[in-house]
Amino acid sequence: MTSETITAAASGTWKLGDLAVNRLGFGAMRLTQLGGAFAADAVASDRGRAISVLRRAVELGVNHIDTAAFYFSPLRSANELINQALAPYPDDLVITTKVGPGRSPSGEWLPHATPEQLRGQVEENLRQLGRDHLDVVNLRILGTGSIAERFGALAQLRDAGLIRHLGISNVRPEHLAEAQAIAPVVCVQNRYGIGVAPEQDGFLRTCGEHGVAFVPFYSIAGTGGERGASGADGDEVLAVARAHGASPAQVRLAWTLHRGPHVLAIPGTGDPDHLVANVAAGALRLSEDALATLDSLHRGGA
Ligand SMILES: NC(=O)c1ccc[n+]([C@@H]2O[C@H](COP(=O)([O-])OP(=O)(O)OC[C@H]3O[C@@H](n4cnc5c(N)ncnc54)[C@H](OP(=O)(O)O)[C@@H]3O)[C@@H](O)[C@H]2O)c1
Repeated sequence: MTSETITAAASGTWKLGDLAVNRLGFGAMRLTQLGGAFAADAVASDRGRAISVLRRAVELGVNHIDTAAFYFSPLRSANELINQALAPYPDDLVITTKVGPGRSPSGEWLPHATPEQLRGQVEENLRQLGRDHLDVVNLRILGTGSIAERFGALAQLRDAGLIRHLGISNVRPEHLAEAQAIAPVVCVQNRYGIGVAPEQDGFLRTCGEHGVAFVPFYSIAGTGGERGASGADGDEVLAVARAHGASPAQVRLAWTLHRGPHVLAIPGTGDPDHLVANVAAGALRLSEDALATLDSLHRGGA
């Protein structure tokens, strides 16, 4: 499936609060460098190619882009590429960013932000994206501790009009309950895919019951994580791909979308052909047999 006529609308829509998005979106983490993300010796991406990928994504109907101020290589910033490629922004484009982690100007990871520092991170995203408010902001955390103070700080920025909707990332079910007691939550962004974090299945369903979008990251990269996709797919995924005339990456994306109407995809790529293939995966309907095979593979933690 490589049709350039399939648009992201084929994946169906979901509402993040009052903001409607096509379920097949785009993640900006891969735009700033070749190879793995966050490598100290990263080779910068080609600026023109990255900009054309972003513009093509929007042409193909993508209206949900995930980003962060900490997505940068020595020479490229994802937010600045998005600004340069897409501003003035289409009215229906929803840009989701995340705060919590921070990197020094030379790229070293800093301790996660305190409640007081979160405002500065929100303002940094506003400046880089050239916006007066942020559509969706995820609080990205590490560990299992309370998020009440940090989420409360973001709820205040929401009340002040700097943020329209809030989400949480890298979290557990108890964090969702804690956050929802403070302010509405429109999305949970966690690591998830075929064979990746099957223990999240219950949480994924809980999100659906609460009308909260579940937005997996690394649904193609899987255990490759920041380093990216290894291309080493097992026999089951390869067989399903062959049977559907699709690529393994498309099967991985389609499987996540089959997990529920509230599941959104944000595949990341700097490759224009991969972008087209990923958008087309939103139209891929897997057979019952294929779903049974992949579900079983998933439960086994492939
Ligand atoms: N909240 C969090 O903590 C968190 C953490 C990580 C990521 N994220 C977000 O989630 C997004 C998704 O993660 P990700 O970027 O790792 O995406 P992914 O979709 O899981 O995997 C991307 C990897 O797969 C490759 N790829 C993409 N499309 C492909 C295709 N059609 N065929 C073959 N290979 C393909 C990419 O390489 P090419 O560039 O060569 O295509 C890259 O190596 C990120 O962009 C970021 O916005 C959030």
